[in-house]
Amino acid sequence: MKNIIVLVSGGGTNLQALIDAEKSGLIKNGKITCVISSNIKAYALERAKNNGISTEVIRRGDFSEFSDYDKALTELLKSKKADLIVLAGFMTILGKEVISAFKNRIINIHPALIPSFCGEGFYGLKVHEKALEKGVKLTGATAHFVTEVCDGGPIIIQKAVEVKNGDTPEILQKRVMEQAEWKILPKAVSLFCEDKIKVVGNTTEIID
Ligand code: GRF
Repeated sequence: MKNIIVLVSGGGTNLQALIDAEKSGLIKNGKITCVISSNIKAYALERAKNNGISTEVIRRGDFSEFSDYDKALTELLKSKKADLIVLAGFMTILGKEVISAFKNRIINIHPALIPSFCGEGFYGLKVHEKALEKGVKLTGATAHFVTEVCDGGPIIIQKAVEVKNGDTPEILQKRVMEQAEWKILPKAVSLFCEDKIKVVGNTTEIID
């Protein structure tokens, strides 16, 4: 059974999708054992507590040097014996130490079809604002491994979502979450826990 640690900063709807998937048996061979938040007020912490999952808070602002924060987060994750780390709306950039300590063991969910609308500055509602500005007819979500290149790691699963007339960034964000993020993130986590993801260079092969 793999030990899953989920990193959050906000509402935690992706965390909820993971908790529900674990409960319904969709996530095979994995268990969420801890939720770590960058924000003490994150509602995601309530979701964890309501489901009997232990919580921790680690804030970038409590460290003057980024490298000290990076080290502390790495140590915390090691102390929790993480097999898999999931970034589910985690708004703090990860440092080199944590990324190298958990190579190909950190999964992020990004609310667009990478390589579109990704990289530095593309987070939260901004992603959907940019997609609407460009006028794309399809957007979606991507579950991928985290490397030092922002949103540049091996892609695990993608799902497309239609853009509709009259969409606002908020409406599009909701549709992308409902139709893509909440489905592909638990699926990617389950594939990882079942050892069904083979990383080949900067790509993946899913073993079926
Ligand atoms: C999601 O859109 C996710 O893709 C992005 O931040 C949002 C988090 O939402 N990185 P939630 O906290 O899971 O509700």
